[in-house]
Amino acid sequence: MSQSVLKAVIPVAGYGTRFLPATKATPKEMLPVVDKPAIQYVVEEAVSAGLLDLLFVTGRTKRALEDHFDDNPELEAALGSKDKPELLEAVRHPAGLAKVHYVRQGVPRGLGDAVLHGKAHVGNHPFVVLLGDDLIDDRDYILPKMIETQNKFGGSVVLLMEVPNSEISLYGCAKVSATDDPAVVKVIDLIEKPEAEKAPSNYAVIGRYIFSPKVFEILEKTKPGKGGEIQLTDAMTVLAKDVSASEGGGMYGVIFKGRRYDTGDKLAYLQAVVQLAIERKDLGPEFKKWLKTFSAKLD
Ligand code: UTP
Repeated sequence: MSQSVLKAVIPVAGYGTRFLPATKATPKEMLPVVDKPAIQYVVEEAVSAGLLDLLFVTGRTKRALEDHFDDNPELEAALGSKDKPELLEAVRHPAGLAKVHYVRQGVPRGLGDAVLHGKAHVGNHPFVVLLGDDLIDDRDYILPKMIETQNKFGGSVVLLMEVPNSEISLYGCAKVSATDDPAVVKVIDLIEKPEAEKAPSNYAVIGRYIFSPKVFEILEKTKPGKGGEIQLTDAMTVLAKDVSASEGGGMYGVIFKGRRYDTGDKLAYLQAVVQLAIERKDLGPEFKKWLKTFSAKLD
């Protein structure tokens, strides 16, 4: 795989209001999914696609996140002396995954503003954005296909997932046309959270993007939109309508058919924990047995 795309920006500065009060002092990206914080799944995915330079856009209350991807000499020494090699490895692993950098978004003014905070670090190259509460199953990693698509067409690339028409109003929705690859479409327009009857397709934009650095220019000019926030979708719409792919415009969509877990919303989070726990070799069989008995008692 070509390594033209090397850096990733991971915005984690949001308030996580859907999880209050848990997220009052703890980043929602640090909520455990079984025994790993959600963000570690995301970092592992980035690393497996060859992205070894990661920029977290953080803020107040996000220190736990920085500590998680750092060494913890006291804990490591304690585990070492207690002869717990698996736990010691589990504790050391996150710090060794990638080169992690931080920039603070003092006020969470929206996802678009968070991405704009990556400008100085990213420079003039295409880069990946991964949302810290959107998990892709490691059997279905898709970043390599997105990077390949960016190499082929230039411009920007989004990840699209077909959702039932009744759910499209929860997502950004893409108006698309076909390409010669059935897994890739050209994105002509994007509409944020459209009403079901007005949606141009059932393709929802999910939390993986590759942006041409042109996105920064556009974000700098993007005025606050919905909720007073700088909306990433507004800048993406401009990118999609700009046809000059050779100059960083234009947008393609990779269609994702794999397993994805949303951990930003309470119900989806609970579902993610159950699904991933069942898959685990150590926990799965016993948990499944309990779950079957438990669910049989539900009305
Ligand atoms: P979300 O909208 O899912 O996160 O943004 P949120 O705003 O924290 O959550 P709610 O809606 O209040 O419950 C997707 C990702 O973008 C980050 C969030 O931390 C999350 O990982 N984000 C969002 C920022 O970094 N800065 C922002 O200004 C907004």
